[in-house]
This record gives sequence, C-alpha cells and structure tokens, in this order.
Amino acid sequence: MLETIEVPRPEPRAGHVVVRLGATSVNPVDCKLRSGAVTFLGEPPFTLGFDLSGTVVDVGDGVTEFRSGDEVFGMVHSRTGTYSEYVLARAGSLAPRPANVDHHTAAALPTAALTARQALDLAKVVAGERVLIHAAAGGVGHLAVQLAVLRGARVICTARAANHEFLRDLGADEVIDYTATDFTTAVRDVDVVLDLVGGDYGSRSLRVLRPDGRYVTAQQSDAGEDPRVALVTGAPSPAQLAEIGELVGAGRVRVHIDQAIPLAQAGKAHELSESGRVRGKLVLTPW
Ligand SMILES: NC(=O)c1ccc[n+]([C@@H]2O[C@H](COP(=O)([O-])OP(=O)(O)OC[C@H]3O[C@@H](n4cnc5c(N)ncnc54)[C@H](OP(=O)(O)O)[C@@H]3O)[C@@H](O)[C@H]2O)c1
Repeated sequence: MLETIEVPRPEPRAGHVVVRLGATSVNPVDCKLRSGAVTFLGEPPFTLGFDLSGTVVDVGDGVTEFRSGDEVFGMVHSRTGTYSEYVLARAGSLAPRPANVDHHTAAALPTAALTARQALDLAKVVAGERVLIHAAAGGVGHLAVQLAVLRGARVICTARAANHEFLRDLGADEVIDYTATDFTTAVRDVDVVLDLVGGDYGSRSLRVLRPDGRYVTAQQSDAGEDPRVALVTGAPSPAQLAEIGELVGAGRVRVHIDQAIPLAQAGKAHELSESGRVRGKLVLTPW
C-alpha cells in the first residue's frame, strides 16, 4: 500500500548529503517492493524510490565532493528512498547534474541507464556484434539500444509494432513484433542477448545465441546453468553516471519520458508501470 505522510526533513549523516528533490522516477522494482513480491528493503513501512535529481541543501561531515546549492543526480539504495521532497543520499552515489540536462531527464537515468551500461559491459559488447534486446522500448531497453549503437553494435529489438518507429529512430537495425512473431524463428546466431523480460525468454534466447555468445539478463529467467549466462544488477556508479549525463547533454543519447506525474499520484504511476506498456520512463515530480 502507498501512503503519503509528513516526516521531519532528514539530518545529514556523515558521508551523506540532503537533496531537495527535483524529480525521481519509477522503476518496476518499486512496484515489486510495494506489493511485497520482493523484500530486500525489509519490512514496511519504508520510502520507495532509487533515482533522484535535485539540489544539495545540507552536507554531512566528511563530504568533500558537494556543497549546498550543487545540482546532482544519482541512485540511492536505502529504506529512506527518493519518493520524498528531501532525500538523504550517500555523497559517493551521486554525480553532478549537467547544466543542460533537466531534472526530469536526469531522474530518469540512474537505475535504467546504469543497468543498461553495466549489462553491455558484462556482455563485453564490441563494434560489429549483433545484439538482441528484449523489452527494448522500456526504461532500460531504450537506453541500452542507444548505448549499444554507440559501441558500433547492430541492434535487434523485440517490441510491439507501436514501438517500432520509436526504436528505429533510436538506431535499432531490426525490430521484431513479439506479439505476431516468435523471435526464435526471426533471428539466429546473435552475439549477445540482453533480456529485460525473463521467464522463458531465457531458454528461448539461448536457442538464438551463437555457441560463444553471451546472454545477460536483468530478470530471473529459465536460462539455467549455461556458462554463457550472466545476471546484471544495476549498481551506483557516479563515474559511469557522469559519462552518461555527458552523452545525454551532448544529444548523443535521448531519454524518452512517457509521462511526468506528481508524487502525490504515485499510485497511478505504479498502475501504469505494472501495465508493462510504458515507453521509456515514468517520472515523478514533487510539486
Ligand atoms: N537487475 C537489475 O538491476 C534491474 C535493473 C533495472 C530493471 N530491471 C528489470 O528489468 C526489467 C525491465 O525494466 P524497465 O525499467 O526497462 O521496465 P519497463 O520500462 O517497465 O519496461 C516496459 C517495456 O517492456 C516492454 N515489454 C513488456 N513485455 C515485453 C515482451 N514480452 N517482449 C518485449 N518487450 C516487452 C514494453 O514494450 P512493448 O509495449 O513494446 O511490449 C514496455 O515498453 C524489469 O523486470 C525490471 O524489474 C532489473
């Protein structure tokens, strides 16, 4: 259950800053934590949210990276999450927000872009390789498509027909409508699969992978013990986030915001996320 409550503004702990929220964003894991499908934050009540963009308003002891007034974005993993007007964040998990990247765009990035980037790193994607991306139109997927294209990969996507033009605009070479065509009949011998769906997409993906290919999944799947299989867990990395922020600021990576919704309507945002039909990212705003 989601509930809006009044709490005191957090005090800055050592190594932490307090950030006034500019925007946060919804990740599917937020909905899974709300429903109890995943429990890694412990027993409720806790504040949801991992992504933030905002302004530093208080600095704890030992923080040298930031001062009050600095614009930052990043990933916060704690029970005092980012669906909040003021957020306590570890200074070491934040990066400076580029001046030409607005709060909505910056808040959409941390979990999705870091997961996309770290998945491509894990798969060691290099120029010329064919990369199949499942759920390419979503938050992680649409960024993974662009980051893979920047590495010189040829990108094949699974998505509904309504998202094909969107994905081709982002640089996808081929798009498979998974509602009409079984991808295992449409593609073969790919170098890398990035699976953002999971379940039986695991074993099916292994069937279209080269013998020396790599399958990286962000979701539990039935791919089993195959040595080509790896699970990615998006982790905070201010250095990688700063690089991604620069790419976005330079217009080399585009962030698609499906909708920006006030935090007070987070329940509506969760319903949309759980529909599985969000294109790009859902952003939450504090006003
Ligand atoms: N392990 C980690 O650290 C980590 C980090 C981030 C995310 N994840 C997980 O990765 C998954 C994707 O995250 P996300 O934020 O990108 O989710 P998302 O934004 O909610 O993904 C929505 C997209 O999924 C697509 N989709 C749904 N079912 C599909 C299917 N069967 N085949 C192809 N596309 C499908 C939809 O496109 P269409 O409308 O075209 O179907 C929609 O655009 C989630 O399960 C999330 O929990 C894991």
